[in-house]
Amino acid sequence: MKWKEEYATGIKEIDEQHKTLFAATEGFRQVLKLGCSADTFESFLEFLNLYTEVHFDYEEGCMLSRNCPAACKNKKEHATLSTFLESELRYYRKNGFKPRRAVKLLDVIDRWLESHICRIDVQLRECVKK
Ligand SMILES: [Fe+2]
Ligand SMILES: [Fe+2]
Repeated sequence: MKWKEEYATGIKEIDEQHKTLFAATEGFRQVLKLGCSADTFESFLEFLNLYTEVHFDYEEGCMLSRNCPAACKNKKEHATLSTFLESELRYYRKNGFKPRRAVKLLDVIDRWLESHICRIDVQLRECVKK
């Protein structure tokens, strides 16, 4: 997935973090296509778990400090994705690498990021202006 101007939140750090998330899923999609993803899957999942945690904390702080009306919804949706990513890591550790499940995971994450950023994160734009 490529970052687009319509994803801009008005906060440079957040936009950079979103770009990093897009680059990570895009990179892993390429790795999957090459068929050598078993070794890298666990580190990809660990990275996603860690990086989303850092990003979510940072963004939630920005929304709270600017009294953003989306703050509560943002936190709730973050928690849902975090639970999902943790469960995928647990599944992997128990059952090993499943290529088809990995493709589905990427699709879910891309859809989630696009929908979440466009509905929730971009609401920061108006709050930054104030
Ligand atoms: Fe968010
Ligand atoms: Fe975000």
